[in-house]
Amino acid sequence: MAAPVAENVAAKIEELKVNGVATEEEDTDKVTPWEVTTTSATGIDYDKLIVKFGCGKLDEELIARFERVTGHKACPMMRRGMFFAHRNLQEILDRKEKGKPFYLYTGRGASSGSLHLGHLVPFIFTKWLQEVFDVPLIIQMTDDEKFLWKDMKVDDAKKMARENMKDIISVGFDPSKTFIFNDFDYMCPPFYENVVKIWKVVNTNQGRSIFGFTPEDCMGKAAFPAIEGAPCFASSFPHIFGKRNDIPCLIPCAIDQDPYFRMTRDAAHKLKAAKPCLIFSTFLPALQGAQTKMSASEPNTCIFLDDTPKQIKNKINKYAFSGGQQTVEEHRAKGGNCDVDISFQFLRFFLEDDQKLAEIREKYTKGEILSGELKAMATQEVQKIVGEMAERRKSVTDETVNEFTKIHDLVYKF
Ligand code: TYM
Ligand code: TRP
Repeated sequence: MAAPVAENVAAKIEELKVNGVATEEEDTDKVTPWEVTTTSATGIDYDKLIVKFGCGKLDEELIARFERVTGHKACPMMRRGMFFAHRNLQEILDRKEKGKPFYLYTGRGASSGSLHLGHLVPFIFTKWLQEVFDVPLIIQMTDDEKFLWKDMKVDDAKKMARENMKDIISVGFDPSKTFIFNDFDYMCPPFYENVVKIWKVVNTNQGRSIFGFTPEDCMGKAAFPAIEGAPCFASSFPHIFGKRNDIPCLIPCAIDQDPYFRMTRDAAHKLKAAKPCLIFSTFLPALQGAQTKMSASEPNTCIFLDDTPKQIKNKINKYAFSGGQQTVEEHRAKGGNCDVDISFQFLRFFLEDDQKLAEIREKYTKGEILSGELKAMATQEVQKIVGEMAERRKSVTDETVNEFTKIHDLVYKF
């Protein structure tokens, strides 16, 4: 039953190309927490998105300051522009310089039994940020969100969240520095107070214009954003921060989550609490092409962390959109296009070696590397990452999950 889904995605991309034929100026990019599409084969125009969303560009100057303040060379995802935008990252760097506290916050809405490669992007980056900053990390699992949006029972949403926690833990987090919770089980009085405070300062019109809710949507959907917003307030975690509301967080996530935090920053201002700061990534594209993001609701656009090496190879060979030419002769003569080639995009996200990546780009563009060869390289790299994750996951038990989710002291004191 797998193939029709991929065909649907291919059909959707075709439809986007045909119906979406746009003039230069027309903006056909759509980025919301629920949908990411564009008519352009090279993907979303992220510079335009920065202007549309009103966030800042993570430019060379800011990256240089980041490196100066932290004493760490920016990681590949940051150097290569996968993390490309921010809101008030300067404040976090100011605090780092002055030794003032802050924490990291990110999350996951489990809608599939396993994470896919795209979800790994913010979590791999978060792990690196935690090594750089050495501050508390809070991870929210929004099982309530999935209950509201999907056809899912409460118990199943909770189970899925717990299974996904095992994938997340396998990225390499440390329970003495990390608190992971799912909303259904954690909703304690201080957290709920923050949810209600956010509800009070955001009116229905604002909610509608930020998220596009319609009058037919259930009330829960309109109410949910405050629950994703409340972990931005330190007092939601009294066992870690006591009653303090002056400690800001830095949120690493893909840019689709920005609407939640645009709303929360506005609410924080009204509530005189510290505003969350953000650092945003682009999307790991779907196998079929950069017109859509890799998304668990379309399984054949995805490589899941529980795919076998053979499944990974087959998916990349069968579905990964190629920027190469139709025949070997033509490819040798004209070369391939790395900007639309999904195998190359995977290497851009996950290959650590800058020099090797530059070499591959050059050779593929000149036609010296064939599409099949590029697919083999991407397959090998993805198999390696997924293999390492699977190896670590073997030692993650329910007991391990409990160490992260129980109410426990972290090594940091406030
Ligand atoms: P969810 O589960 O849809 O996504 C989890 C994280 O992965 C990012 N992401 C991607 N990044 C790169 N490429 C992709 N193709 C891709 N698809 C998803 C998302 O931006 C997100 O960072 N409502 C949230 C859960 C949440 C959350 C948060 C996320 C709660 N609190 C705080 C970030 C920060 C959700 O359903 O994410
Ligand atoms: N090599 C680093 C590590 O293993 C970074 C990394 C590569 C990684 N692939 C990964 C981290 C997969 C998590 C998951 O920690």
